Amino acid sequence: MLKNLWYVAEWSDTVKDKPVKTKLLGQNLVLFRDLEGKVKCLADVCLHRGGSLSGGWVNEKRDCVVCPYHGWQYNGGGKCQKIPSEGDSFQVPKRFKVDAYDVEERYGMIWVFMGDLPAEERFPIPPLPEYGDEANWRGLKTEFTWKAEASRVVENGIDIAHASFVHPVFGYPSTAEDNYIEEVEKHEWWGRSTNVMYPPQLKGGFLGWRNFLRKDKQETKVHPEWHLPGMIVRIKIDIRPGWHIVMFDANTPVDEHTTRTFAWQFRSFFKVKMFDKGSLQRLKTILLEDATIVQDSQPYYLPETLANEVSVKSDKFMSTFRMARRKLIEEKGWQIDTKARDEHKGKKVLTISSPGRRQAMIDGDGWVFDEMPTVPPIKSSTLKNEFERQVDVLTTESVNSKESIIA
Ligand code: FES
Ligand SMILES: [Fe+2]
Repeated sequence: MLKNLWYVAEWSDTVKDKPVKTKLLGQNLVLFRDLEGKVKCLADVCLHRGGSLSGGWVNEKRDCVVCPYHGWQYNGGGKCQKIPSEGDSFQVPKRFKVDAYDVEERYGMIWVFMGDLPAEERFPIPPLPEYGDEANWRGLKTEFTWKAEASRVVENGIDIAHASFVHPVFGYPSTAEDNYIEEVEKHEWWGRSTNVMYPPQLKGGFLGWRNFLRKDKQETKVHPEWHLPGMIVRIKIDIRPGWHIVMFDANTPVDEHTTRTFAWQFRSFFKVKMFDKGSLQRLKTILLEDATIVQDSQPYYLPETLANEVSVKSDKFMSTFRMARRKLIEEKGWQIDTKARDEHKGKKVLTISSPGRRQAMIDGDGWVFDEMPTVPPIKSSTLKNEFERQVDVLTTESVNSKESIIA
C-alpha cells in the first residue's frame, strides 16, 4: 500500500449530515460535511482517550465533528476546538490536533490525499471526461469488494490476455493467440496501451438486439490504462465506430487484504435507462469472474521482483504498472511498512502523515500520534536496475514477435 496518492474513500452521496466511517491504507478515517457542503477527512481517533470520531456527530455550527466519548470537538483541519469539561474559556493547546487529509470531490466520488506532500508535488486525480457529459454518455455506477490486495486487482484489470479465458463475453480460448498489444505508452504515474482483440458476438437483450452490436470475432480495439493515483483501471472498448464503452474503476486499498472498487461504466449508445439493468448485471458478472481468479492467486501480494515468475510479451503492459509502482516504493519510500506497523497493533495509534503534521514538524510543535512507518527507499539500486532491465526487455520487444520472452 502506497501513501502520498489520491484514493477514493466514498461515493459523494454517502456523506450527508452525519459523520461517516471509512478506511484507507489500513487506517480508520472519519468523513463529514461542513456548513459549506465541503467534505472533511480526519483520522478517526480522538486524542483524549481514543474515541472513534465517526461514532459521534457534527456540531450545530457544522464546523466540527464531536467525539461521542467526552464531547471534544475537532474542526476540518483536525484541530481540537472545544473541550467541554474545561469550559468555554479554556485555550486548547496548539498541539491538540489529529491528522486531517485533503479532500476533493470529483465524479461523484470523495477523493482523499493520503499523505503530506505539498499540492504541487502530487500526481493528479486521473481524468474522467465522460462524467457529466450526458449528451454523449450514459453512466452507471456500482461497487465491489475484493479479498485481495489492490495492486493484484489493478494488474488483473489491465491484463488483456486473461479475457480469453476468464470472461466468456469478451474472449475465446481459441483466439488467445490472435489478440495482440499494438502499442504501449508509459509515464511516471500512468500508462496506456492499445490492444487488438477478436471477441465473440454479443448475445441477448430484448429480441436479441445485442447480436447486432458486434459480429463474431470482429476486430475490436481495447485501450486499458492504469493510474497510480486512485489505483485506477480505465478501459475503453471500441465496439464499432461511434460505439464505445468506458470503464473507470477506482481500486481503493482499504487495507492490505481488502480492496474496494468504486466503478463507473459509460456507454455511448442506447443512452436510456431501460438498458441500465442489463449493463450493470454484466459489469457485476465480470467483476465476479475476476475475483474468483485474483483471490486465489499466489503469492498473495504482487511479487516484488520478476525473478520467481516468467513473463511473456502479452505481459508487457502489466510490467509498466509494476515498474512505476516499484519506483514509488524504492525511490520515494511511500510503501506502508505493515510489518513494522503490526508490532504496535492494539497498543499504539499510528497515522499516515498529513500536511498539518508535516508543518508541525517543521515548526517544532510535535504531534501526538506517532507516524505510520514506511519502507525506507533503496539507496543502492541493484534490485531496481534488475527489475527495470527485465521490464525493458518486455516493453521494447517487437510487438509482432511471436517469441515468448522469459524474464
Ligand atoms: S475520547 Fe474523545 S473526548 Fe474523550
Ligand atoms: Fe477481467
